[in-house]
Amino acid sequence: MKHDIVLKINNETHRITVDSRRTLLEVIREEIGLTGTKEMCNKGDCGSCTVLLDGRPVLSCMMLAVEADGKEILTIEGLAGEKNSLHPIQQAFVESGAIQCGYCTPGFIMSAKALLDKNKDPNVDEIKNAISNHICRCTGYVQIIEAIGRAAKILGGVE
Ligand code: FES
Ligand code: FES
Repeated sequence: MKHDIVLKINNETHRITVDSRRTLLEVIREEIGLTGTKEMCNKGDCGSCTVLLDGRPVLSCMMLAVEADGKEILTIEGLAGEKNSLHPIQQAFVESGAIQCGYCTPGFIMSAKALLDKNKDPNVDEIKNAISNHICRCTGYVQIIEAIGRAAKILGGVE
């Protein structure tokens, strides 16, 4: 069955017709063309497909596109600044060596963004909790936790 829906992605409004079985992840990547959001497990286990829905991190592989009708969605592409400059969280990931293959990175960064939007100075346990449903197969978590702490300092004007 087809549905007409409106997705507000990174401040742009998209009016599209989607099959009721299409996931939000499929629509973001294949119909909108924003491939920064990654598909890895496609069953809710890895966090790589995380986007923000009205400011909350959600697994876009586990959500139907029709459920996001009318909602505000932020993807990794929406974080870049003017002239595609890095967002402070992206900058912190680079500086901390928290990226290798980069496949998991957009998901971690979106969860970090949700955390730092509501908690400007998270402690290590709070950071671990915010990324607890994410899997990284190559960098390891120490650098990622460090990067999120560093991002908090950059955003707070401390670094
Ligand atoms: S691709 Fe969605 S949780 Fe793994
Ligand atoms: S950097 Fe490769 S999976 Fe995390």
